[in-house]
Amino acid sequence: MKTDGGTDAAKRRAGERAAEDVEDGFVVGLGTGSTTAYAIEAIGRRVGDGLAVQGIPTSFQSRKLALEVGIPLTSLDAVASIDLAIDGADAVVDAPGSDAHGTLVKGGGAAHTREKLVDSAADRFVVVADPSKLTDRLERSVPLEVLPAAHTVVADRIRDLGGEPSLRAAERKDGPVVTDNGNLVLDCTFGEIEEPATLADRLSALPGVVDHGLFVGLADATYVGTDGGVEVRQ
Ligand code: 5RP
Repeated sequence: MKTDGGTDAAKRRAGERAAEDVEDGFVVGLGTGSTTAYAIEAIGRRVGDGLAVQGIPTSFQSRKLALEVGIPLTSLDAVASIDLAIDGADAVVDAPGSDAHGTLVKGGGAAHTREKLVDSAADRFVVVADPSKLTDRLERSVPLEVLPAAHTVVADRIRDLGGEPSLRAAERKDGPVVTDNGNLVLDCTFGEIEEPATLADRLSALPGVVDHGLFVGLADATYVGTDGGVEVRQ
């Protein structure tokens, strides 16, 4: 999942900076994607140096990487709380003063249901991103994880809401993307989303939708890797 050199370096800086926030004894939510992978690898190196942590992965991908780098794993139902969650995003609204400020769109890796579960349960949720993820207008398509039997019905409801749904296709084989939970993904465009909280409520209310990729009011900070370092956005 490498990108061009500049973007990749920015992702690395953001991920490694977030890994520095992990303290001894922490339970850490491990997000999904190429930026979070740098955080997981850095946490693994710190575990190798004696840091005691337990990780809660948000996907098959992050679980596999965490096991490879030696992070002991646990699960949501085995812990009283999560101290810190680190996760990437496909879009981060950076528009102070607007209703949408701080809203995330996630689910590029089709893992947003478990990501939202873990990220929202954490005492602190830090987003890691490269600058290409920042936007002042929320125009990106919103992924919906849907029950397989519901995808045509949900697609109709999305059109009723003024959106345009598209069933996500697998890149390397015929057929749709299937999530870790055995469901399908509808990517839904709505033009510019000016009131993400309202849209989030409407999407959550649709029968057959497991969860959607709008994360409203969940992130405590965004660490943005830049050419020279890391900028922290609140
Ligand atoms: C997966 C996600 C990822 O966090 C998001 O797609 C960002 O990925 P990357 O860090 O590779 O750009 O939401 O469902």
